[in-house]
Amino acid sequence: MTAPRLTLPAHVYVDPGYFREEMERVFYTKWLCVGRASDVKNPGDYFLREIGPESLIVTRDETGKVRAHYNVCRHRGTRMCTEPAGSMKRIACPYHAWTYALDGQLVGAPHMADVRGFRVQDYPLRQAHCETWDGFVWLSLANEPAPLAQQLGSVRGKFANWQLEELVIGKRVEYEVKANWKLLVQNYSECLHCPVIHPALKKLTHYMSGDNEPANACYLGGTMMLNEGIKTMTMSGDTARAAMPNLTAEQRRLVYYYWITPNVLLSVHPDYVVSYTLWPKRVDLTHVRCDFLFHPSEVKKPGFTPDDAVELWHQVNQEDWGVSELAQLGIASRAYTPGPYSNREALLHGLDLVLTDRLPE
Ligand code: FES
Ligand SMILES: [Fe+2]
Repeated sequence: MTAPRLTLPAHVYVDPGYFREEMERVFYTKWLCVGRASDVKNPGDYFLREIGPESLIVTRDETGKVRAHYNVCRHRGTRMCTEPAGSMKRIACPYHAWTYALDGQLVGAPHMADVRGFRVQDYPLRQAHCETWDGFVWLSLANEPAPLAQQLGSVRGKFANWQLEELVIGKRVEYEVKANWKLLVQNYSECLHCPVIHPALKKLTHYMSGDNEPANACYLGGTMMLNEGIKTMTMSGDTARAAMPNLTAEQRRLVYYYWITPNVLLSVHPDYVVSYTLWPKRVDLTHVRCDFLFHPSEVKKPGFTPDDAVELWHQVNQEDWGVSELAQLGIASRAYTPGPYSNREALLHGLDLVLTDRLPE
């Protein structure tokens, strides 16, 4: 008789030492989705992205290239930008007024001209690697990361019919969840809990209509079928928005839920897409950002509103965050020991292995 597969041990959710090691192994090494290219539409537009204690300035330089600079002055190390987003011509340090061009080159260093051996070209801002995929900006703090395409694997191209690059943000919502980031990924990846905690989903999709791909190192995902007469995932199941123009008949009847390593959750509906990014603040605290993306032709229509989609997911997300916080509390107890997965949770075991960097068996 084989023993049931078990959930992960407590320390991967509660131990600050494990968390530090995981930040190095995952968040300071892999490519991370930090926002949309449209967040830095014009040269000089910028936003800040915190990754643990690190702060990065994501901006577009004069040549149109999206770049990510560490928010650390090369003079005496001061953090320079503090506004979460904005527009600027130069990156200026508030301490002694060193200034940097948008490409990171040092262009102004008061009182340094008479310092022997000092050359401005020796002190550009430190940069992170930066790439875009379908309108999403990704960066990596690794010295020599593998190509982003390699990390994304075959999830790249999977949603080509949604024209992800063209989509525009209709609403951005942020949450702080008192749970380890992996609990949010696990919660997202199974719907056994759906009938228990998400009453609003019952009439939209059946929780057993899911069809999952096997877990792999790049992503884990699957589909759920919209119930008869349901047009999309909104409170009513209806919407004034048209489906994305290029979808197949099957794609109009499905909802796709994909975790993309390490910290992206992508929910793909016939008429809108939600991208969630998870940002661990502590071992037991995660910042979540949700972008609701729509086709530009819908956003231009008079009376366009994202509210029906936002309302549903705000409720469902709060239910998910709530139960994830309860899981965090329970796992932190001295009484916790790994528990058995059901057969319907087999994929979660594979996900656990990927999340803790062990390959699925
Ligand atoms: S620390 Fe930035 S100018 Fe001195
Ligand atoms: Fe849920």
